[in-house]
Amino acid sequence: MPPATPAPQTDATPAAEILMIEGGQPLHGEITIGGAKNSVLKLMAAALLVDAPVTLKNVPNISDVWVMAEVIRHLGVDVTNPADNQMRIDAHNVTETSATNEYVTQMRASFNVLAPLLARYGKAQVSLPGGCSIGKRGVDLHIKGLEALGATVDVTHGVVTASADKLIGADIVFDVPSVGATENVMVAAVTAEGKTTISNAAQEPEITDLANFLNAMGADIHGAGTHEITIFGVPRTQLTGLSYEVVPDRIEAATYVIAAVATGGDVTINRVRPQHFQAVLSKLVEMGANITTPTPTSIRIQPAKTTLTAQNITTLPYPGIPTDLQAPLMALLCTATGSSMVKETIYENRFNHVGHLRRMGASIEQDGNTAVVTGIERLSGATVSATDLRAAAALVIAGLAADGATFIRQLHHMDRGYDGLEAKLRSLGANIHRLREDALPKGVTL
Ligand code: UD1
Repeated sequence: MPPATPAPQTDATPAAEILMIEGGQPLHGEITIGGAKNSVLKLMAAALLVDAPVTLKNVPNISDVWVMAEVIRHLGVDVTNPADNQMRIDAHNVTETSATNEYVTQMRASFNVLAPLLARYGKAQVSLPGGCSIGKRGVDLHIKGLEALGATVDVTHGVVTASADKLIGADIVFDVPSVGATENVMVAAVTAEGKTTISNAAQEPEITDLANFLNAMGADIHGAGTHEITIFGVPRTQLTGLSYEVVPDRIEAATYVIAAVATGGDVTINRVRPQHFQAVLSKLVEMGANITTPTPTSIRIQPAKTTLTAQNITTLPYPGIPTDLQAPLMALLCTATGSSMVKETIYENRFNHVGHLRRMGASIEQDGNTAVVTGIERLSGATVSATDLRAAAALVIAGLAADGATFIRQLHHMDRGYDGLEAKLRSLGANIHRLREDALPKGVTL
């Protein structure tokens, strides 16, 4: 599993590695999906609530997990990897309630340590979060929610400081269904005095996974997965250690579904929960994709019987089409017949991939949060850069479907969230290799 101390990577320190894809091969075969990045990071943070060991299974080997491991290690937590894809977290000896080091600012999910530290120690300090550069991504809802529970919160010099003698249950209504704010408030309410309700809560499967994890720890949470969550506070002494398997990653799964469709392949994807991305599957079927679910936990993609047709896409909170799949879907629409409108409603700046898809020949007009994609017959390989995690996935999909070679730079974005992407794609017959930029094979120029 992860190295003990991964070197922090940022846009300022470009990765020396590059992904080379020779496109045009339909993907064939079977792959298995790992645990959800957007769940495991929150479970790791929530493990801080309890002073007994927590074992997580189905943990993806991705850099965001290594970074979160460092974030909690810096608080005194013992993090080990007893087996492949397993993590043992023992927070009995937390020595620090302030998380402000360079690992914290690399990733937005580190903000989730705020609630468990506050709930357990009555104080916590966390740097304002980093993460992909896809918009403003404020934390006002997190703060309002914690204040409603009785915390005093101060933001100075980019650091959020929260304190509370005790947290008391409250009725909280979010302006927008924020995933992170729902998680932070839900965790803080686990040991608050009395009853908390969260209205207009986020309904993502990762919220349900976190609630299931907390309930298995001894919490009393109802309604996760709907827009109203009720949490009855329990004494901290009621919480116990536990072993828990992370929910499959719906975004990873959908990325491979889209890649299979884009290449006209025949691929079976195992260990998935198709109902967690039904809106995407339905949209792909409307495009003409040939998708079946041979079992409740697998999906098969076979070559489409007709050419794929354009579709309009609007990203929405769950159960709508996730913003995290907007870029991968756009890569597919680049070669669908007709014009598609893609509207991004969650983030104000999530079209960084557009310019790179255009380099590959795509015809895309962007105006504010809307892009119109006019399908062309084939994309052509080019040298492009991953500007964020899901942009990286989009460029991989585009490269797999394109004529010729595509070179993708800034791979550290991709490594944040895709476990063994090249190995999985190679096992499906893709011609994809990671190379050092300073050691490209003879004849290869970028
Ligand atoms: C999580 C996911 C991310 C996904 C997003 C939406 C993780 C680690 N990341 O991010 O992959 O794209 O959900 O499904 O789980 N907002 C505020 N104030 C707040 C909180 C959020 O204005 O206090 C805004 C954000 O700027 C954004 C929108 O609400 O425009 C949605 O954010 P949120 O649902 O909180 O997403 P994250 O939890 O950051």
